[in-house]
Amino acid sequence: MAKPESKTKPREIKKDIYCVGAIDWDRRLFDSLIPLPDGTSYNSYLIKGSQKTALIDTVDPPMKDVLLKNLDELGIRKIDYVIFNHAEPDHSGSIREVLAKYPEAKAVCTDRCKTMLIDRFMVAEERFKTVEDKETIDLGGRTLEFIHAPWVHWPETMLTYLREDKILFPCDFFGSHLAITDMYVRDAGQEYEAAKRYWAEIMMPFRLQIQKNLEKIKDYDIEIIAPSHGPMHDKAEFIIEAYRSWAYDEPENIVVIPYISMHGSTRAMVAHLVEALTRRGVTVKQFDLAASDIGKLAAALVDAATIVIGTPTVLTGPHPNVAYAAFLANALKPKTKFASIIGSYGWGTRAVEQLAAMLPNLKVEIIDPVIIKGYPREVDLESLDKLADTIVAKHKAAGIA
Ligand SMILES: Cc1cc2nc3c(=O)[nH]c(=O)nc-3n(C[C@H](O)[C@H](O)[C@H](O)COP(=O)(O)O)c2cc1C
Ligand SMILES: [Fe+2]
Ligand SMILES: [Fe+2]
Repeated sequence: MAKPESKTKPREIKKDIYCVGAIDWDRRLFDSLIPLPDGTSYNSYLIKGSQKTALIDTVDPPMKDVLLKNLDELGIRKIDYVIFNHAEPDHSGSIREVLAKYPEAKAVCTDRCKTMLIDRFMVAEERFKTVEDKETIDLGGRTLEFIHAPWVHWPETMLTYLREDKILFPCDFFGSHLAITDMYVRDAGQEYEAAKRYWAEIMMPFRLQIQKNLEKIKDYDIEIIAPSHGPMHDKAEFIIEAYRSWAYDEPENIVVIPYISMHGSTRAMVAHLVEALTRRGVTVKQFDLAASDIGKLAAALVDAATIVIGTPTVLTGPHPNVAYAAFLANALKPKTKFASIIGSYGWGTRAVEQLAAMLPNLKVEIIDPVIIKGYPREVDLESLDKLADTIVAKHKAAGIA
């Protein structure tokens, strides 16, 4: 569905370099999965050299008119190269319209990206020019260098570095889902939170590959990072340092407790455990899965040492919302080191076995669960105190204080 009401205008970054993408203020769900509390943007960048003109990334298909109008407004008659850093449709989805409007343009991407773009958009093969790692294109006084960077966010991804202006165009890498009029990050706290959440949802599962990509860009002189979601970074170190800490650092003295409760028993257990851990100096983040934004949970998992999942038994297993959260946590592969399960049942349960079997990707040590019948009694609360003691001891032994 087109969104003609969006009026994001072209904005100049430097002479002959423009943002020409679209801000999507109202979008609330991404990939039919990820909540977008602050909307997002699909950034597209136009670069003019003395000889040639390049467009870097396009926009999500419903916003293609914004991009095309912006190019008209800048009087762009000819584009020589359209760089596709990534084949996901939020950046490549306007490929057919852009290539039709600019018939001389070559679509520039990795070999793998070309296959994916043909698979998805049925673009004619002769429109492509594939580029190797470190290959360059001269625009006339401006040089684009392509850096192959698989898994930020898919296997075909690359980054584009504009040498003379020291601008890195990394597409999803270093991005954030923020609809905002500031061209550059101005509110570092807001950006840190949005970027961390984005890291958790999009980048965290590929942490080891991302470490390699961080190494790869280490020796580049980068003044501006211009991602394809959210504001640009004129203090590149801010986001690179944040990525380094998320990718490399040990988890912190934090316990994340996603839980659900139908009739209050599991909730009472969670409340007791939160209090017991807090008294022992642990930071606790509690999420009621009946109402929580799953992106906040994902972000909390980025640096938590322990996850404790709380669930009542429903039809012999965990509550379906808890199963969903466990499935997601397993897929996101946080650095979490320890896990446990607490919860209540009525007559017979297999919730622990079923949940534990859902977490094979988490390289966690499982701490003895606390599963009780009905509402927690004094003896059950003591078991939760013991669980808190064990978590604290495990954190200390692992050097997490
Ligand atoms: C829809 C539904 C299905 C349930 N299925 C089971 C079950 O298969 N096995 C069991 O032991 N208890 C089952 N129970 C009972 C709950 O697990 C039990 O009441 C528990 O104490 C609820 O915890 P809560 O107060 O945290 O919701 C079920 C309850 C509901 C509402
Ligand atoms: Fe993506
Ligand atoms: Fe994206």
